[in-house]
Amino acid sequence: MLWPKVVCFALLGLVFGQLHQAVSTQTVSECPTNFSRVADKCLLADKSWKNWYESDRHCRSLNAELLSIKNQTELKAIQEWLPVAEPYQLEFWTAGNKLGEVKTLIDYYWQSTGEQALYLPWNQDQPIPSSGDCLTLFANYSMETGEFVMDVHRLTVKNCTQWAPHICQTPLQHFTTQLCLNPSAVYEAKVPV
Ligand SMILES: *[C@@H]1O[C@H](CO)[C@@H](O)[C@H](O)[C@H]1NC(C)=O
Ligand SMILES: *[C@@H]1O[C@H](CO)[C@@H](O)[C@H](O)[C@H]1NC(C)=O
Ligand SMILES: *[C@@H]1O[C@H](CO)[C@@H](O)[C@H](O)[C@H]1NC(C)=O
Ligand SMILES: *[C@@H]1O[C@H](CO)[C@@H](O)[C@H](O)[C@H]1NC(C)=O
Repeated sequence: MLWPKVVCFALLGLVFGQLHQAVSTQTVSECPTNFSRVADKCLLADKSWKNWYESDRHCRSLNAELLSIKNQTELKAIQEWLPVAEPYQLEFWTAGNKLGEVKTLIDYYWQSTGEQALYLPWNQDQPIPSSGDCLTLFANYSMETGEFVMDVHRLTVKNCTQWAPHICQTPLQHFTTQLCLNPSAVYEAKVPV
């Protein structure tokens, strides 16, 4: 709590050569530029076609990581956000994989968090471990009524060397904002916590 105040005072001190009191503080949570808040994290859907390894590197270059899915609440939020963020896009790489595992085992891990994937919302007829070692979120679609109807995105096994768009995740950033008051103006200082 001390540092935000010090920065706030220092800012004003620089301008006016005197100190003024912070009159209100507030904590705000934000996502980095180009990331959207979805459930409790920040997501970015990138529709350029890359293999799983390239997608992983791309997310890291943004200070982020490939998507992991924690539970049903999170999946539902992702399923609602995806068709809005990237309409008509059927498939996205996630962090899920079983690289280096025995072929017949179907234990999957989230490469980004290092955790075993315990919540695995599979698509119909999945998993098919022989298809590959990496996991996408895939939505089936139909044209039955003459209209493009996209199903919800669920997990599907895919060969890591094939191409697909991907989803990066990064945690929410928390800031405290402090309103600093002096006789002639109000300033706002925004400080990471
Ligand atoms: C946000 O996206 C735009 C358009 O793709 C890009 O030009 C810009 O560099 C991105 N900003 C950041 C901070 O990544
Ligand atoms: C899913 O995880 C979030 C964040 O940890 C938690 O707030 C929420 O209650 C969980 N939902 C379910 C259905 O477990
Ligand atoms: C993935 O595809 C490559 C190239 O087609 C192939 O050599 C490899 O065996 C496949 N991997 C798996 C796990 O199916
Ligand atoms: C997609 O839906 C069609 C029709 O419902 C079904 O026959 C097909 O097996 C599904 N494909 C996948 C990959 O789930």
